Formats: sequence, structure tokens, C-alpha cells
Amino acid sequence: SAAITVPDFALVVLIGASGAGKSTFARRHFRPTEIVSSDACRGIVADDETDQGATPDAFALLNAILDLRLKNRRLTVVDATNVRPDDRRKLVEVARRWHALSVAIVLDSGEDVCRARNAARPDRVFGPHVIRNQMASLRRGLRGLPREGFRQVHALRSEAEIAAVTVSRQR
Ligand code: GTP
Ligand code: MG
Repeated sequence: SAAITVPDFALVVLIGASGAGKSTFARRHFRPTEIVSSDACRGIVADDETDQGATPDAFALLNAILDLRLKNRRLTVVDATNVRPDDRRKLVEVARRWHALSVAIVLDSGEDVCRARNAARPDRVFGPHVIRNQMASLRRGLRGLPREGFRQVHALRSEAEIAAVTVSRQR
């Protein structure tokens, strides 16, 4: 099974549709203080982690936290869908500013798994097209990740691969 080794100073960008398992993966492999999540930022600015109207402010906060953490040379994991190149551009820019190595971890659990999991989540009520569109953007953009500035790209292509992968730190 795959083994991921990240530098001890890095920007780790999780990429995956809603329900792919990003937040679960982040909690399993990283410290709570290392994780910056768009949902947590929505909660901070709007008292509601699902308030889509809060998205611009939530990402302003997320980017500010990311900037400060990388300034302090703290490894940081961005837990958001990050499926479109436009979603990732600012993240890579901030990492570049602080000379952090950018790592992309793609979680592709498959559309059916994402949909089934979200069906069981009261706070994820959206049509099937949402997951389908996210998955399509993700797959279209995969090959371009190195060109966007990601120095490591890890693509985990099934529930089994996601469950089996190990993450360690290079020192
Ligand atoms: P969004 O925040 O909506 O973008 O989703 P996410 O990618 O953060 O997914 P999350 O980690 O919240 O997982 C979604 C649901 O799937 C949760 O109910 C998890 O408990 C479940 N889940 C996540 N990873 C796994 C896994 O590896 N196996 C199983 N069986 N369930 C999982
Ligand atoms: Mg999540």
C-alpha cells in the first residue's frame, strides 16, 4: 500500500468531492492545530458550518490563517474540496511566498461512495449533480497539478487505498 512522506514544513492540500473523506483523513493523519478547514472557518465567521453565503469570508479567514502558519513555518493541511484550479491557486501562491513545499493529496472515493455517505449526513443536502460536477472537475485537473506548483501529488483512488495509506514526516 502507498506511503506518503511529507516534509516537516509543507502545505498539504486535500482534494476531493464532498463525502470523499477529507476531514476524516485529516483527523487521522494530522494534528488538530495543523488542519485549516473551510467548514470550521464558515462556523467562525457565520456560526454555521454549512452557510454557503459565508464562503468568501470563510476563505478570507482560511487564507489568513494559512499565511500566518506558513510564516511561522508550521505544516498546514487545507481541508476544503479544492477541486478546481481556481480553488487551489491562492493556496499555492501563499505556500510559494513562504517557501513551503506544496503537496496535493487527492481523495477519490468514487461518486457512489460520496453520494451514499452524504445521504446519511443531515448537513449535506444537495443534488447528485453536485458530487458529479466536483468529481468531474477533480479528474479534469489531476494531470495539471504539478504545473500548478504541487511538488508532490498523491492520488488515492479508492476507499481501500485511502484506508491503507500511511503518512509520515521527513525531518
Ligand atoms: P465534506 O466536508 O462534505 O467535503 O466531506 P469530507 O470529504 O470532509 O468527508 P468526511 O471526512 O466528513 O466523511 C464523510 C462521511 O463519510 C462521514 O460520515 C465519515 O464518517 C465517512 N467516512 C469518511 N472516511 C471514511 C472511510 O474511510 N470509511 C468509511 N466507512 N466511512 C468514512
Ligand atoms: Mg469535511
